[in-house]
Amino acid sequence: MTTINREHLGNLIAQEEARFLTLHPKSGELFQKAKEVMPGGVPMSWMAKWPGAYPIFVDSAQGARFTDVDGHEYVDLCLGDTGSMTGHSPKATVEAINSQLKRGLTAMLPTEDAVIVASELARRFGLPLWQFTVTATDANRHVIRYSRLITERSKIIVIDKCYHGSVDETFATLDDAGNTIKRPGNLGAPVDLAETTRVVEFNNLAAMEAALAHGDVAAILMEPAMTNIGIVLPDDGYLKGVGELAKKYGTIWIIDETHTISVGPGGMTALYGLQPDVLTIGKAIAGGIPTGTFGMTQEVAARIKAKVERELIDTGGIGSTLAGNALSLAAMRATLTQVLTDEAFARMVKLGSLWCDGVDAAIKEFDLPWSCSRLGARGEYLFQPTAPKTGREAADAGDFELEQYVHLRLLNDGFLITPFHNMALVSPDTTESDITAHTAAFRAMCADLVSA
Ligand SMILES: Cc1ncc(COP(=O)(O)O)c(C=O)c1O
Repeated sequence: MTTINREHLGNLIAQEEARFLTLHPKSGELFQKAKEVMPGGVPMSWMAKWPGAYPIFVDSAQGARFTDVDGHEYVDLCLGDTGSMTGHSPKATVEAINSQLKRGLTAMLPTEDAVIVASELARRFGLPLWQFTVTATDANRHVIRYSRLITERSKIIVIDKCYHGSVDETFATLDDAGNTIKRPGNLGAPVDLAETTRVVEFNNLAAMEAALAHGDVAAILMEPAMTNIGIVLPDDGYLKGVGELAKKYGTIWIIDETHTISVGPGGMTALYGLQPDVLTIGKAIAGGIPTGTFGMTQEVAARIKAKVERELIDTGGIGSTLAGNALSLAAMRATLTQVLTDEAFARMVKLGSLWCDGVDAAIKEFDLPWSCSRLGARGEYLFQPTAPKTGREAADAGDFELEQYVHLRLLNDGFLITPFHNMALVSPDTTESDITAHTAAFRAMCADLVSA
């Protein structure tokens, strides 16, 4: 297999860094001003991780494309890391938002849209009862609290190298001896992570059972396929096995479908016929307006009800003032019923697969030790020749220098992929020619990489 020459890679990176500066003078000027008023020159700290000397500043975005302040148009395969999986400013969602703008944005009272959205979520995911939050992070935080409340247990299980938003309990990892410890980069952890969390490897039912057998686990929180450390797909029978173990040990099984909805309208839960106790999701479901939601079984709802006093319901650590606001529910109703439809998913999944075909073809042609994993409308390549089985294996395939090159080169060529790893996502507005253009750019990049 082809080995990448590091000196050659260094030269290629230098070329792309220079090209970036030439292409993006206006973003550079804005960045200088931005540094005076925002730490790192960015409105949110992760934005400092984009490749290049500074992030490009967006002028406008529509459908599967956006334009930067220097006038360059990009095929957007990042799509706000799923927040704009609908395509930017989808027509039906924008119409619903415009209409709601004149009818009140938030009143801390329900609107009819809440009933329609909850019914649609129940149809898609099979769970009958729903609550709304401002973000997917909040949804995960809230369901962890509820799980602790109803089970009267303290710990949660998460998968090694998972990501579920900025949820304290989840920033844990395994050390080499298999102990749960703070994940590198975890800032200001409030308590020792071993107090709140047990970490297990993905695709390992024996480890899951051993972690549950302590009898102190309130909930398992997991994505049905890992998507935040590269894509890691579940082995046959793994997810059903987790569900059975959760039942056996009286633990609440929470599935986070925030990213895995890429496989279809009801995510992997519907596709695989899974029966979690609780399901969380956010990001794309309101077309880019902040929102999150969680669904639960009748049994979970009844257990919560039995333990929550109406008089104290506003000080329980659940909810926020803008959760379930009229604007986000109007946006969700339009997005779920008119944008992220069953028909849209059929097209998106086909194009997601075409994107992976293009990547696979170049990997094969240039004999690169890489592999590409498919998750419906989403695809991702990793710098190892076989698909990973665990988060750790995917993390070990990381190559920051190569990753930075790939991202910068594609950006300079007019394609944006997610900033954190090599993931692409397709929207209902993405076209076959967008994908074939990416295939050509990816192939040319691979040819240059191996040309030393
Ligand atoms: C699987 C998953 N769950 C939850 C979240 C949190 O979403 P948000 O940052 O919008 O709260 C993320 C964010 O990337 C995610 O990937």
